[in-house]
Formats: sequence, structure tokens, C-alpha cells
Amino acid sequence: MTDKSKQDRVLIFDTTLRDGEQSPGATMSHSEKLEIAALLDEMGVDIIEAGFPIASEGDFEAVSAIAKMGLNAVICGLARASTKDIDRCWEAVRHTRQPRIHTFIGTSPTHRAIPNLSMAEMETRIHDTVSHARNLCDNIQWSAMDATRTEHDFLCRTVEIAIKAGATTINIPDTVGYTAPRESAEIITMLLNRVPGADKVIFATHCHNDLGMATANALAAMQAGARQIECTINGLGERAGNTALEEVVMALKVRNDIMPYRTGVDTTKIMNLSRKVATVSGFAVQFNKAIVGKNAFAHESGIHQDGMLKNAETFEIMRPQDIGLADTSLVMGKHSGRAALRMKLRDLGFDLADNQLNDVFVRFKALADRKKEVYDDDLIALMQDQGTHA
Ligand code: KIV
Ligand code: ZN
Repeated sequence: MTDKSKQDRVLIFDTTLRDGEQSPGATMSHSEKLEIAALLDEMGVDIIEAGFPIASEGDFEAVSAIAKMGLNAVICGLARASTKDIDRCWEAVRHTRQPRIHTFIGTSPTHRAIPNLSMAEMETRIHDTVSHARNLCDNIQWSAMDATRTEHDFLCRTVEIAIKAGATTINIPDTVGYTAPRESAEIITMLLNRVPGADKVIFATHCHNDLGMATANALAAMQAGARQIECTINGLGERAGNTALEEVVMALKVRNDIMPYRTGVDTTKIMNLSRKVATVSGFAVQFNKAIVGKNAFAHESGIHQDGMLKNAETFEIMRPQDIGLADTSLVMGKHSGRAALRMKLRDLGFDLADNQLNDVFVRFKALADRKKEVYDDDLIALMQDQGTHA
């Protein structure tokens, strides 16, 4: 690998099994978690955050079992800034070839007020817990929870302490989805410019979607120098969710001209994982969700269908096959035109002359006005009524 390609590589840290599962109602079973971990690994994510081992016996068991699966990805567990949490996390992740301990503390004024720690006490806590973790494991991620609402001077100081204590990845979470793209980039730039030792660690971005900007904020942080993007399948996560893995990965693929960064993800596995996570979490994917929604590659209007039949680039910026879907779907409805109807009927075995098509088209439009979507069976019935068998 050349130095250039090293610089352009962005690590994908998937937290579907930890932050995703924290979504109210999204609990997954032990075997479902193992199945998802295997699929994530196969897809090529770099780091799998498998759970929060001290949170429950079940979480501990799941993280340990995933760590024993012999996966290629780094397996990471979450721990609060306490030696008890960190020890439990280590117990769970230590079975894998590349374990990571991820420890965090809330650094913003709002979050500091909860444990009621002064800034000096918090600095000591960060130093002690990161050093403790580093004595157990070489790969330590430290997160400044609510970093985007933390005073810049204090954020710089805490990051410096974590680096000196042995952290190898520094995560700057937008815990409440509060930041906006320019600010997200400026924070990373500031840390890279001001913190001694910043060039020796990887900066990570971890965004929530409360204002619908998680993907934009993650990409902005990456353009400013973050080299790890934390995300979840389908954007599953607390409240409005996390940055969606499929969105960042496809944005980097489709707009590689302006964002020349590589990931190790095989995008053709995205759809399968999306369906799996939707099924096991019980969180259906909204129809118009970017990349993986039912309508993301579907076209109903006549102008769009006609354009798609002539050249797919007219209304698609990526191909459905890129994410593992068989093809574009032309949905027959009241907005559909003659060209799509002709093609659909041909696929069903009915090859019509122009005058026959005109007649069927009138009856199809009348049906489409009564029904939201006209299915293949409806079209066959329409043809049978007419007695026009192929
Ligand atoms: O959103 C957040 O701040 C988190 C941390 C635990 C990294 O999920
Ligand atoms: Zn989070």
C-alpha cells in the first residue's frame, strides 16, 4: 500500500450491536447478534462495537461470544470511565485477535454536572481510566461524550490527557445531534492543530441524527481529518438514530470525485444486512430511506420510467446492483406512462400492437385511479378481460 492510499483509507466502525441496540425496543437476541456480527465482518467493516459488557450478563455473553468467533474485524466493547467497567469489558473482548476497549466520559458542562466532577477531577479520572485500560490492551478508544457541546479549551485538554495516557483512537461524538457540518469539521481541525500528539492518533466521528444531519456531519468531520466513521446499519440508534453506514459508504463511492477516501466495505452486501437488521430489531425501514428504502430505486411517474427505460442515469445516481439489489423497480401506478406499461406487459408475455396498447392504457389508468399500486396480477386480469392473450 502506498502512503497516499493509506491516507485515503477511512475506517468504518459499526455500532449497530451497541448504540443501535440501545434504541428503545430494538433488543436483539444472542444468536441474532452473532449472526449480524458475522455479516458485518463479511461485508468488510473494520471495527465492530459488539456491546456494553457491564450493562448486563447478556451483553457480556454476547460480546465474549463475538470475540471468540475468529472474525477479521477489531472487536470492541464499551466501558464507562471506571476501572470496574473497563475490567469487565476486557474480560469480554480479550478472546479476539484484535480487541479494543472503548471508554468514555461526558465532558460538556451538562454531562459534567451529573457525576458532579470539577474539571480537575475529570482530568484525573480520564488519565487514570485510560492508563488502566492501556495496561490491559494496546488498542484503546477514548470518547468525549457530548464533545460538540464542550468548551473548546477543555475539550483540547481532555483529548491531550487521553492521548498521553495511551489512547490510540479519539472519538468526538455529537451525542445529541446538535452540531452542523461546518462546525463538525472545525472541531476536528481545531483538535488536530492544537492538541500535542494529535498526529499520532486516529480521530473518530460519531454522530446522532436529531436534526437529520448525522451523515453530513460525519462526512464533514472526515474531510477535516477524522479517519474513523462510527455508524449503524439503517441508522439504527437512540432517538433519531446514528449516522447510517449505508449512507456514508455509498456517498464515498458515488462522490469519490470530491471525497477521495476508501473504505473496506463490499457495498453489494448492504441490502442483505439492512433487511437482517430491520427484521431482528423490529424497526422497519422507512420507504423513502436513502439507499435501502423500498422506494430508493423505484420509479412510478411516466417521465421517470420513460427516462429510466432509455438511460438509467437519468434518474439514478447509483445502480441497485451496487447495494445488492437485483434491479430497479418500475412501479405501475396512476403516474406511469405508456412506455413502462408496454415493457411491463411484454415481461408478462403480452406483446401488443399500438392500438391494443392504447386501449389497455385507458383501462389501466382507470384501475390505477382506484388502486395505489397496480400489481402484475392486476395487469394479467386486465389483459384477460380484454381477451388479448399473447
Ligand atoms: O453518543 C455517544 O456519545 C456515545 C458514546 C458512548 C460514544 O454513544
Ligand atoms: Zn452514540
